[in-house]
Amino acid sequence: MSNIIVVGAQWGDEGKGKIVDYLTEGTDVVVRAAGGNNAGHTVINGGTKYILHLIPSGILWKDKLCVIGNGVVMDPIGLIEEMNKLRGQGVTIEPDNLLISETCHLVLPYHRALDLAREVKRGDKKIGTTGRGIGPAYADKVERSGIRAILLTRPAELEEELRHRIAEHNVTLRDVGVDEVPADETVAKILAAAAILAPHVTNTTVRLHEAIQAGKKLLFEGAQGTYLDIDHGSYPFVTSSNTTAGGACTGSGVPPRMIDHVVAVAKAYTTRVGSGPFTTENEAIGDMLHNMGREFGATTGRARRCGWLDMVLIRYAVMINGADELAITNLDGLDGLDSIKICTAYRLDGKVIHYPPATISDIEKCEPIYEEHQGWKQDLSTIRDYKDLPDLAKSYLNRLSELAGARIALVGIGPSRDQTLIA
Ligand code: GDP
Ligand code: IMO
Ligand code: MG
Repeated sequence: MSNIIVVGAQWGDEGKGKIVDYLTEGTDVVVRAAGGNNAGHTVINGGTKYILHLIPSGILWKDKLCVIGNGVVMDPIGLIEEMNKLRGQGVTIEPDNLLISETCHLVLPYHRALDLAREVKRGDKKIGTTGRGIGPAYADKVERSGIRAILLTRPAELEEELRHRIAEHNVTLRDVGVDEVPADETVAKILAAAAILAPHVTNTTVRLHEAIQAGKKLLFEGAQGTYLDIDHGSYPFVTSSNTTAGGACTGSGVPPRMIDHVVAVAKAYTTRVGSGPFTTENEAIGDMLHNMGREFGATTGRARRCGWLDMVLIRYAVMINGADELAITNLDGLDGLDSIKICTAYRLDGKVIHYPPATISDIEKCEPIYEEHQGWKQDLSTIRDYKDLPDLAKSYLNRLSELAGARIALVGIGPSRDQTLIA
């Protein structure tokens, strides 16, 4: 048995898609268990770039089962667009290789409208959401007024429930001064989507347990990152789900004792898209990476904020997720630097601390404490064997592993599948 959870150790966009794609070869089932189409996972293979939002990236491999678990919030219209785009790129998506949990909640047009309206209302305190309706959809789930995927298979019940919920949400939309969602048009669109998606909807928890009993290996594709977790992240500048390893279990119905490994993915530097504190943010690194055409969001196209590697965050992420292995991506992003900084601790009100504080005001007061490493000043992108990395790159990675308290298993030196080194 070898079931693996892959999580992001930073603020998302760590390169989880690429690492999951790499690990999929040795696995049978790939599962998304949290988040929605706020995620954007890039996989580049054979010169083709694929961007996955809701569909597990295992779909790019033949004969792998892909599961959208109960913890996901699923936008039916967004999912169909994504299926069509991938099919246009030659990917096979059928009811037998993509399963949708009957208990995952739907993201509906009124969730998107509310998400956007609330962001406008927050003014300069906006979260910088992806505008995909994720927060309002999870709020409805917890408030017990959501609609679940099982209704996609029962059109009459779905229509009744939709009309009821649209009317309810239109009151809220009116209150915030936003256009109402047109009932007839929305119902027609969702019913049409339901007819397409219904054959994929099933009890995925049972299917996952059957797969485990048959000796199959499961890979959980994390979305977002540890510091976007609703409980452990930099609240309120977070997403609305548990993005950490525990979320893979609650979001799929696979219990913790069936998990064998947790791989935390981190960039060799730090990025963040959206608002919120960022202790090691550094404009010069951002300019350098953006000038290389890198660090633009896969979902919204926004330029990501960039900074030095923050080991305070990664060490804590290793702890929360129980990560036994690290995958370090984008090491090649540091190729041109004479000198590279690693943040090892923070100074807060004159005290040295090793864990991120709980409040935004405290995090904003934190000063990073850096140690400096000599850069390797060499193009790493063509290296295919870990042992061929320059010594200075290896010593950067060794120090990182020591500070994190976890073994480095994989290192990314480029965006393609073959630019992954086994450490
Ligand atoms: P995810 O959301 O965690 O899957 O990450 P994204 O796909 O949103 O962002 C990661 C970006 O880094 C994408 O553009 C990837 O193609 C790219 N990427 C991943 N690993 C590497 C790497 O090792 N080197 C380089 N140059 N790019 C990488
Ligand atoms: P992947 O899976 C990076 C961020 C948004 C915003 C906050 C809340 O590609 O790593 P939301 O729309 O979820 O309510 O936005 O979370 N965010 C992400 N940032 N990568 C992601 O996913 C993200 N998903 C959400 O930018 O700051
Ligand atoms: Mg992403």
